[in-house]
Amino acid sequence: MAIRQAQRGRLIVLEGPDGIGKTTLAQALADTIYSDAVPGTPAVGAQLVFVPRRQISQTSPYARTLMTRLATMLWHSGDAPDLTDDFWVHLQASWYSALRTSVVDPVLAVGHDVIMDGWWFKFFSKLLLQGWTQPDLDVIFGRVAGPDAVIVLTADLGALYDRRGDFQPREMGMHAGVSDYGRQAFITYQHDGLKNLLAYADQHRWAVLDLDAAASVADTLDLLRPLIAPLRRPEGEPL
Ligand SMILES: Nc1ncnc2c1ncn2[C@@H]1O[C@H](COP(=O)(O)OP(=O)(O)OP(=O)(O)O)[C@@H](O)[C@H]1O
Ligand SMILES: [Mg+2]
Repeated sequence: MAIRQAQRGRLIVLEGPDGIGKTTLAQALADTIYSDAVPGTPAVGAQLVFVPRRQISQTSPYARTLMTRLATMLWHSGDAPDLTDDFWVHLQASWYSALRTSVVDPVLAVGHDVIMDGWWFKFFSKLLLQGWTQPDLDVIFGRVAGPDAVIVLTADLGALYDRRGDFQPREMGMHAGVSDYGRQAFITYQHDGLKNLLAYADQHRWAVLDLDAAASVADTLDLLRPLIAPLRRPEGEPL
């Protein structure tokens, strides 16, 4: 059992505010993407595999069918206040359960490491602003295994807003009672969420990297790579 554990890859996650570059950077850091690394293809050496957090299983047809329906409910059904946070929290918990067991674990099991553009911490950081407590979340999500390592990305929030500009109401506090959307709403809401993410970082001793929003992706990757390398499965461990 101890040997099997040692052979598993590691799940490494980038967390941070909306639009900071989690997806762009995680994808660029990886050697390959999920669709090219799904088990079935024999692993030729351990790779760093990018798995988007909205990835649907390609190894279980049953999970694939149900995750497709869940994804439609979670991300392609519009935004309305008609259903409470409670409804969405339980759907998200179902999503992460399926993601962990039907997408991530099969990749880790063959010895690859996985890099993802977020886990549930950004969602949690926002729920804490809406009256949820950590013990509530621990009960609901506690049976799903979390990542092995997390890196929190921070940056000047005004500069992030100016860099992208097309943020959605939910990224400016729609679910936290904000209605006056714009640059200031984005900064205030993201700042409050980031405080909670930084508290997690403190508690779990995660690395925090402060990025320059005006820097190039290539320069930012040069800062990130040295933080990722020591989090990976030790080299030389057999597959
Ligand atoms: N140095 C940089 N690092 C990352 N992204 C950058 C950088 N400079 C510009 N960008 C641009 O900023 C955007 C970052 O968006 P991206 O979708 O990767 O963020 P995200 O954190 O995954 O957002 P979300 O929380 O919405 O998933 C991209 O359009 C990217 O091209
Ligand atoms: Mg993203």
